[in-house]
Amino acid sequence: MNQVHRRIKLKNHQNKSQIHTHKSFIINIPKIFKFAIIGESFMQVTASAPGKAILFGEHAVVYGKPAIAVAVNKKAYVTVQKREDERIHVDIKDLKLSGYIDPENNEIEIESRENSKKGILNYVLSAVKMVHGSAQGMEIQINLDIPIGAGLGSSAAVTVATIAAVSKFNNMNLSKDEIAEYAHDVELEVQGAASRIDTTLSTYGGVIYLSKNAEDIVPLEINWNIPLVIGCTQDRGNTGELVESVRLKREGYPEVLNPILNAVEALTNDAVISLQKKDEKKIGELMNINQGLLDAMGVNTTELSRMIYLARKSGAKGSKITGAGGGGSIIAYCPGKIEEVTSNLNTIEKAFNVEISKEGVRIEVND
Ligand code: MEV
Repeated sequence: MNQVHRRIKLKNHQNKSQIHTHKSFIINIPKIFKFAIIGESFMQVTASAPGKAILFGEHAVVYGKPAIAVAVNKKAYVTVQKREDERIHVDIKDLKLSGYIDPENNEIEIESRENSKKGILNYVLSAVKMVHGSAQGMEIQINLDIPIGAGLGSSAAVTVATIAAVSKFNNMNLSKDEIAEYAHDVELEVQGAASRIDTTLSTYGGVIYLSKNAEDIVPLEINWNIPLVIGCTQDRGNTGELVESVRLKREGYPEVLNPILNAVEALTNDAVISLQKKDEKKIGELMNINQGLLDAMGVNTTELSRMIYLARKSGAKGSKITGAGGGGSIIAYCPGKIEEVTSNLNTIEKAFNVEISKEGVRIEVND
């Protein structure tokens, strides 16, 4: 295989991307081509990247308070193979979603029927644009064991795995730092705004402590497997709207909300020590206090509450919303009670055990 390749910086086109379904165009995003790659590609490359869960500090992190988040062993898998033609076809069987992406014209053409999860293809298109500029056709297959839109970082995991797989397929050897940087650029392009929490965890794995608006990221050495169960409600909270609602609440009641945010900061810092000492009782109590404060911020729902209290009744030492709330998921800390909590939560919603993924993005090449 010819390992020699050239990178050519292309002009930054300002066109907008369009998703074509059989009915309409729905999303526009600006077009960025970073590189063109010339050289032979591998036969098949697979990259995997983990999703994430926030253990402490969501929402408060928006105001410069710390948060603790973990990469979880629910992953996105992206496999890239050569096609005989020059088109790029994407198939996400778990979502019954497939279509062609055209990085040159910034277009997505969906083959499947109307699909509420089609927005994920914007991340795939933007990720491909970052690392693919040649005329090489590709078949991209994506498998997911992370639920989409449940606050578990599925779009970051898909983005990181796509960048890793497509870049390797095109003979680029990106460092993890470069993958994380491109993935953050993709989230900015598609979402308009994004913290680095999800893309960092999908790239590097492990446990992280974030401060100063999630710009300072410190890996935490946690040498034991935190027993966690995730429960996903059917509702999908809108992160942007929830962040805005907390902002408005803080603006309306600064003397009430600011002490709440300070309390989240204090409990998150306490949680670092409790996690390092494996102080089960304290970890659970701090999660429950954090939940009370998230409720006070107004991001709880009846469904989330039901799961949170059912988890505690089933033996969880602590349980809370994970992520933005308003729907999405809960996380329960369940030493010795994983099976009870999982099966009881499963009677009302989808629940599963997760473990910390120490490994971040991983690439496998098949020549
Ligand atoms: C969403 O997963 C976490 C929030 O704190 C928003 C953010 O940090 O970007 C609510």
